[in-house]
Amino acid sequence: MAGRIKVGLVGIGNCFSGLIQGIEYYRRNPSQQVIGIIHDKLAGYGIHDIDFVCGFDVGENKVGRPLVEAIYEPPNMVDWIPREEMPGTEARVFEGPALDGVGIWVENRVKPVQSGRSADDLADEIRRTIRETGAEILVSYLPVGSDKASEFWAGICLETGAAFVNCIPSFIASDPGWARRFEEKGIPCIGDDIKGQVGATIVHRTLARLCSERGTRIEKTYQINVGGNTDFLNMKEQERLVSKRISKTESVQSQLAERLDDDSIYVGPSDFIPFLGNTKLMFMRIEGRQWANIPYNMEVRLDVDDKANSAGIVIDAIRLARIALDRGIGGPIRPASAYLMKHPIEQMSDPDAKAACEEFVAG
Ligand SMILES: NC(=O)c1ccc[n+]([C@@H]2O[C@H](COP(=O)([O-])OP(=O)(O)OC[C@H]3O[C@@H](n4cnc5c(N)ncnc54)[C@H](O)[C@@H]3O)[C@@H](O)[C@H]2O)c1
Repeated sequence: MAGRIKVGLVGIGNCFSGLIQGIEYYRRNPSQQVIGIIHDKLAGYGIHDIDFVCGFDVGENKVGRPLVEAIYEPPNMVDWIPREEMPGTEARVFEGPALDGVGIWVENRVKPVQSGRSADDLADEIRRTIRETGAEILVSYLPVGSDKASEFWAGICLETGAAFVNCIPSFIASDPGWARRFEEKGIPCIGDDIKGQVGATIVHRTLARLCSERGTRIEKTYQINVGGNTDFLNMKEQERLVSKRISKTESVQSQLAERLDDDSIYVGPSDFIPFLGNTKLMFMRIEGRQWANIPYNMEVRLDVDDKANSAGIVIDAIRLARIALDRGIGGPIRPASAYLMKHPIEQMSDPDAKAACEEFVAG
């Protein structure tokens, strides 16, 4: 049942800017292979079948603006397509309730709009906007630590029937209570916490699994991440990081033959280095033992553009959410969540999750 996929975005930051600029990049370069998605077509849907019909943010320089202009507003820094060359659309950015979205380190960069409107008042306008624009899927790109805001948007999905793609580590699709509510309403959700294509956690969990499957014993492991965008600046606030650490750590732990003690594993965003911009650096180490108790260790340094890393995965999540809508399937979409997200309701190995996704698409 292919057609247009109408998507609303919550959080018009660097991730969404990279997603929409990447689609425009491929529109201009049709002979180029689209890199970073499962298949060009998923049940008939390609990357150019997606329309971004509305956005929601709190930044005073984004709210009220056309969506394709808001993506260039600071503190966003993705500029793969020059601003003046980005084709216009009718989609606009509306105000969302700030709730716990803006942390102490970023508030002087995001500059939340001071409209004085309550969440209830905004909810009326949001429901109306979703109805009028026909948004059938909401993608959340809220900052890490936005647990209350995530619950607000999950509630909006339950009220409007929009599917939810939760790219952040506030647990909705993996929370049994929320999962049941989505199931009862027959609304699909995919989450939580988007994986990178070749991101820090996927590299770490793949190598940890390799060491386990080759029969070695892993004794200690760490993964340190640094970056220079507002995502990393926000994560300097340790209290906002609790679920991010759980999500990333469990993603690695789930691949080990034997779980490590809490003191033997450290996985987490670690610091903000302004001049890195959207470049993320990951430093990973695994220490273990082989035959005759002889020690070994490995170290990996990964250097990636974190926004290019996640966009293709989100495109797949959007298309899989639409396939679930087409087929009347509600609740957490397990194969899609296990393949695309760090903290799904059910962890699988990456090859198993990919095979389950292919089966899901094939129906
Ligand atoms: N590879 C990746 O980039 C990756 C991987 C996994 C998860 N994520 C997560 O995706 C999310 C988005 O990342 P980003 O780099 O775009 O972040 P960002 O800081 O660039 O953008 C966040 C946006 O959310 C807006 N915002 C803040 N509070 C809000 C609220 N209450 N309602 C609506 N909008 C609000 C901000 O104004 C900003 O525009 C982050 O949580 C990040 O950790 C990213």
